Amino acid sequence: MSKNILITGSSGFVGSALYHYFENETMHHVFGTSRRSGSTTDEMGDITDPKFIRRLHAVLPHMDCVVHTAAMARTSDCEKNKERCRGINVDATVNLDNAFKSSKFIFFSTYAVYDGIHGDHTEGDCITVHDPANTYIATKITADQIMSTRRDGVVLRPSAMFGYDMEHKGNYFTQLLDKVQKGEVMKSPKDQFFNPVHVHYVCEIVGRIIDRDLRGVYNIGCPEAESKYGFNKEVMQKLDMPLSLLVGVEGDSDGIPRPDCQTIFSHKIQRDADYIIPSLDHMIDRLHKEYKRW
Ligand SMILES: NC(=O)c1ccc[n+]([C@@H]2O[C@H](COP(=O)([O-])OP(=O)(O)OC[C@H]3O[C@@H](n4cnc5c(N)ncnc54)[C@H](OP(=O)(O)O)[C@@H]3O)[C@@H](O)[C@H]2O)c1
Repeated sequence: MSKNILITGSSGFVGSALYHYFENETMHHVFGTSRRSGSTTDEMGDITDPKFIRRLHAVLPHMDCVVHTAAMARTSDCEKNKERCRGINVDATVNLDNAFKSSKFIFFSTYAVYDGIHGDHTEGDCITVHDPANTYIATKITADQIMSTRRDGVVLRPSAMFGYDMEHKGNYFTQLLDKVQKGEVMKSPKDQFFNPVHVHYVCEIVGRIIDRDLRGVYNIGCPEAESKYGFNKEVMQKLDMPLSLLVGVEGDSDGIPRPDCQTIFSHKIQRDADYIIPSLDHMIDRLHKEYKRW
């Protein structure tokens, strides 16, 4: 059955990928909102403004599902603008949730909410409430905890997402691409582990969640744990980029603390959505094809 889906943050990396996915690959009707105009933005406005949220609901009252990706998502921006970060990542999330109470609500949290000490986190693990590593993580934890209690809510905890996007909105891969194109060295942590996932598969999973009317908390990551350095090396080899531009480091070069072992298991979503998340190799092949095409 065709549904009405509202995507927040529709001009961003994940939001625009979701918008294109629902528009081109499903029967659903998709609407996008963000602060920037463009082909994926139908209603433009700032979600920290309660008047805008009221107007959004008045204009789009019959949304079956809200997919909330809008956030201050760059860790360094969050450290520089802590209050604003909380306003976007927590307060606006709560206001949107209240305005769209009768819709299903899919909230994009992050894999970084786990303490990152032992890794291999499953959805039942405690999330770091005391002493989060940085402001981005602290705000995501608060919103994650609130949204986890919602009756018809879904909280997604994806690992770092990547993909080639034509408009070059920053993501884990395009940060690397920018550096290589400028001939600059990419410093990449050898001691931070994760399960990077191509955004296309995240879109397919969100589609399944909506079609099967799933609810609850779900991790989303590739099956293999990889270091950030190891991932960049695999990508650079596949895309024939000079490996001399990749340098392995301990910890992040921007000085902002992050947990070391942020690996997750994604068995629950695969079982509930009847979906097999492909291998990291397969995802990097997809990235390679996109890269060659553009
Ligand atoms: N990217 C990853 O690897 C990753 C990993 C785990 C979780 N996540 C989560 O996934 C979600 C999407 O991430 P992303 O990489 O797509 O982020 P992004 O590219 O930075 O996009 C963020 C979107 O939010 C919008 N936005 C920010 N503040 C807003 C405001 N006050 N009012 C209205 N719109 C606002 C932005 O609009 P403008 O264009 O106007 O700025 C943009 O469309 C985020 O919640 C992030 O925390 C991301």
